[in-house]
Amino acid sequence: MTHFGFPLFPDRASSLAGRVDALFYFDLAVSIFFSALIAGLLIFFFVKYRRRSQDEVGSRVEGSLALEIAWIAVPLVIAMIAFAWGAEVFFELSRPPAGATEYYAVGKQWMWKFQHPEGNREIDELHVPIGRPIRMTMTSEDVIHSFFVPAFRVKQDVLPGRYFSVGFEATKPGVYHLFCAEYCGAGHSRMTGRVVALGPHDYEAWLAGGLPAQSMRGEGEEIFAALACASCHRDEPGTRGPSLAGLFGRRVQLQGGRTALADETYLRESILNPAAKVVSGYPAIMPTYQGQIHEEELVELIHYIKALPARAAVPGPPAAERAAARLSPGAGATGSGGANP
Ligand code: CUA
Repeated sequence: MTHFGFPLFPDRASSLAGRVDALFYFDLAVSIFFSALIAGLLIFFFVKYRRRSQDEVGSRVEGSLALEIAWIAVPLVIAMIAFAWGAEVFFELSRPPAGATEYYAVGKQWMWKFQHPEGNREIDELHVPIGRPIRMTMTSEDVIHSFFVPAFRVKQDVLPGRYFSVGFEATKPGVYHLFCAEYCGAGHSRMTGRVVALGPHDYEAWLAGGLPAQSMRGEGEEIFAALACASCHRDEPGTRGPSLAGLFGRRVQLQGGRTALADETYLRESILNPAAKVVSGYPAIMPTYQGQIHEEELVELIHYIKALPARAAVPGPPAAERAAARLSPGAGATGSGGANP
């Protein structure tokens, strides 16, 4: 939206943009209405109750229950509307649909590194297809950054050591600003880039133009093999570590009675700091992989582990397998799922 050549509002280029704007306009309208009301009443009362003679004494004002209830209830209702509406938009942003295509971003001083599921990598530039829900899973390898695409109305802080997800769906082909929206050091203002939204055919053509030898999952599988993860995490009973098959998204029983959700952050912690969360029934023998794996490799490895399918229904009760795993000497733990999916 441009007024007199001055861009007042960024493009609306995602499915969420209109909804964010509607909420913004609602809050703006409420603010304008009450500002005008208060300013107007102030002026009105200045005039109405001005002092008319030197010795005039004001009349005593008693409370008004109805008035007090009104000025508590009306703002409460308006605030609750804004809250519920805002929460709904926030959940839509932060909970991408299950079938969304996964992209990954790693922020660092001072650049954004992206990876597509097909394996394509980009720096400070992100190509996305329009009309397809996308889940951006992001982290930082040093300090706090913030992924901000105004045209999509998407902004998400990224902190080192954790993963953050936002969902969006680009709706309009074009080239849009990408900013870092969190002061992150001397190069913060240069930590910008662009998001290129392409129609499905253009996107496929773009992808094919730079298609790497390996998909992201393939890269992850190679790292899985190179670090010999399978030597302890084979998907069979009696291995030293818990199986990773179908682990992602499940609740894991930990030592000491706690449970943890096996999400990206959990997998990451279990790789870098295995002692933090040890799976119940397994001794804490897994070594740390801190320093042996880069942030981007971690993302690939986790992408691979996430996609490991749950084992086809195994005959026999899962409890028997867990018992078998416990009986075997030494069972390592990435702090991952139980002995079975
Ligand atoms: Cu990264 Cu500011």
